[in-house]
Amino acid sequence: MAVVKTEKPLPPGSLGLPWLGEPPRILDVDFLMQQYHKYGSVFKTRVLGRNVIVFMGPEANRFLLQTGAHYFSWRDGWPPTFVELLGESLFVQDGDDHKQKRRLIMPAFHRQALHHYQGTMEAIALRYIEKWAQRGTFSWLDENKQFTFEIASTLLTGSEPGADTERLSHLFVTLTGGFVTVPARWSWTPYGKALAARAELLRYIDGAIENRRANPTNDALSLLVQTRDEDGNSLTNKELQAQTLLMLFAGHETSASMLTSMALALYENPQVWDKARAEQDSLKIDGNLTIEHLKQMPYLDQVLKETERMYPPVPAGFRGVIETFEFNGYTIPKGWTALYPINVAHRDPAVYTQPNLFDPERFSSERNESSVPFSLVGFGGGARVCLGYAFAQQEMKILASYLLRHYTWEILPNQNLHMVYRPTLQPKGGLQVRFRRR
Ligand code: HEM
Repeated sequence: MAVVKTEKPLPPGSLGLPWLGEPPRILDVDFLMQQYHKYGSVFKTRVLGRNVIVFMGPEANRFLLQTGAHYFSWRDGWPPTFVELLGESLFVQDGDDHKQKRRLIMPAFHRQALHHYQGTMEAIALRYIEKWAQRGTFSWLDENKQFTFEIASTLLTGSEPGADTERLSHLFVTLTGGFVTVPARWSWTPYGKALAARAELLRYIDGAIENRRANPTNDALSLLVQTRDEDGNSLTNKELQAQTLLMLFAGHETSASMLTSMALALYENPQVWDKARAEQDSLKIDGNLTIEHLKQMPYLDQVLKETERMYPPVPAGFRGVIETFEFNGYTIPKGWTALYPINVAHRDPAVYTQPNLFDPERFSSERNESSVPFSLVGFGGGARVCLGYAFAQQEMKILASYLLRHYTWEILPNQNLHMVYRPTLQPKGGLQVRFRRR
């Protein structure tokens, strides 16, 4: 690859102290908005000893995600702990390798496949909602995490509700505990435990793969096992294990975060809640919820988009720069880390009127405020946009439809509702609620 010789300066900004760099406020939206107003679409900083270029706003998003995507590597953007714990899966693959694997995995998330998932998602949603109504008060974040994990795990590993799924869920918590820790491999360290949890999860998934090869069904794992590209290539058992593990990881805390934020936003904006309920009531749904019903909920779509805009579950996308290039008159050096914070474009006053207001009307066909390309990137964008976008919308809309039609909730007093990234966005206190039938 030819290296571009460039005389242009580095982007503005401060690298802070040589080893430590800037304090870790890199995901704080107020700090980022200050930098955006001060410097425009790029600035440099140093985080935990790494030199970082931050790309901000719709134009920079478009460059990083689409027009300049070939200058960046996903694999080099993640810490080595993450690469080892997740294994050879889409998140750490680049170039033709990534393209080929994505094409093979796609059919499990395609429209036709989603039809087959509807019944499973609905049955799980109903079971959780009944449990919540019986319990009355609970921490909704934890419950949403269990709910979305159970959907992903049922469709991707065929796990049974109850002890089986709970065991997998615990293994997952141990696995993710190893992402941001010192990679000491002894069995008693968090990293050692994460490696052991990974091995056990892979064994479980391998058993499920064997099972699906022998008895194919219509779930996501069966589709992954059967998938073939135009040249007849398929995924090996080892590839299937790693990709399935990634989907379980990518596919549950994110949706749980968004569902929790939506419940909070509805409670805080009663006029939005009323309108969303009125839309559901007008559909006069009797009996099972179908995919056709889900397509007739434009206002709920707007509420979900506004939740994505104001409360994006994922803070940022990380990349490694693999070739020196110029962007907006600045040199972006090879070997640096690049990141795009998702919430900056979402709060850009040049795109969104009163950006700090929760206002789903901004996504109505009349106002259509996200028409600026790459101004709404809660699911990423470009060729590597979130693979599970439709899957996530489906599970969130199923749950939301039942909640809006038949239930109501109050946020309990004396809890911390400050939103923090751990690692997805969540209210610090976990959202304690009182829940009952309407
Ligand atoms: C509300 C729920 C979700 C949110 C907010 C979300 C967000 C994202 C974002 C921001 C990216 C791009 C990251 C970047 O550019 O660095 C992404 C990629 C991805 N997501 Fe999601 N996601 C969600 C649900 C899911 C689900 C349910 C699955 C699968 C079951 C999934 C699988 C993936 C995969 C495989 C990629 C990587 C695609 C590729 O590299 O080609 N996501 N997601």
